[in-house]
Amino acid sequence: MNGIKLKGMGRCVPEKIVTNQSLAEIVDTSDEWITSRTGIQRRRHCTAETHTSLCADAARAALARSGVTPDQIGACIVATVTSNTLVPSAACLLQRELGLPTDIPCFDLNAACTGFLFALHTMECLLNASPRKFGLVVGCEVLSRLINWEDRSTCILFGDGAGAAVVECRAGWPSIGAVLGTRGDDELLRVPGVETGPRNFISMEGTKVFKFAVEIVPWCMDWVLQKAGITVDDVDFFVFHQANARIIDLVVRKYRIPPEKYYKNIAEYGNTSAASIPLVLSELQDLGRIGPGSRILAVGFGGGLTWGGALVEFA
Ligand code: ACO
Repeated sequence: MNGIKLKGMGRCVPEKIVTNQSLAEIVDTSDEWITSRTGIQRRRHCTAETHTSLCADAARAALARSGVTPDQIGACIVATVTSNTLVPSAACLLQRELGLPTDIPCFDLNAACTGFLFALHTMECLLNASPRKFGLVVGCEVLSRLINWEDRSTCILFGDGAGAAVVECRAGWPSIGAVLGTRGDDELLRVPGVETGPRNFISMEGTKVFKFAVEIVPWCMDWVLQKAGITVDDVDFFVFHQANARIIDLVVRKYRIPPEKYYKNIAEYGNTSAASIPLVLSELQDLGRIGPGSRILAVGFGGGLTWGGALVEFA
């Protein structure tokens, strides 16, 4: 199978900044508790923006950054659990917004916080079967709409945003070697669908998810490295799903990853689920910390339960 590489990243976050202090005015919490337990200081919540506008603005930025035009796109996947409507999908609306070709598959993918990595792997498979060699992968969430404002353990965590990647597939490029896993569980983390009843908001057993995360992230890393036949030292940059700064700190300590090789933006955005990994990649590209030739190990985990890792290179 021919591999894909990142060609260009883009992102969009809502304007409204919600500080820890402002949350402390509506629930029994404090800036000190949130910062020390999660690393989150602020998050963005949509007001005028919509899921569609976040997706479209992030995707436009990624197209501009990569120099690829909409007519060159061979498939479009939006990783999300919070689309405006189930039908039409967010990807269908994005097809219309951007004027993507009509003879390509555009669809949404739900793997919660691991969605972007599931989507990258799916895109690699799709582009191998497409005459067009560029693909659009977007991670977008508007989780602020599903927050239970009476649950202080979850309402502080989530933020809205979108990150997008234009990827290219070429003969001879190595596969991203994605490792993906799934274990059905409807107790640890739930985001409501069309079910009725009182549970129409995000609910999470935070401590159990935390424990799951600190076990599964190293497992994904080891599996990706073993599959590629490389070591931690061969990786230029590590990108982790931003769910809790303490999870990232534990992992980088375990693998002795130096500060210049990883990045945290959770202080600014909170947990943006499927948008978290592409938001980090987009910021890193703008900062010039990753670029052509960079070899990045990305790891995600989340509801489902789902988890995954991949070795992603920049074209
Ligand atoms: N402010 C003050 N106190 C709080 C708050 C708050 N916002 N939230 C909880 N507490 C209290 C609890 O009530 C509890 O009090 P008690 O001991 O009197 O009962 C105490 O703090 C400790 O609560 P814990 O839930 O044990 O706190 P913990 O240290 O585990 O932190 C957290 C909770 C931040 C949610 C953590 O477990 C976490 O980050 N989990 C991982 C979340 C995650 O990774 N999600 C990823 C997937 S998301 C997706 O896929 C959409």
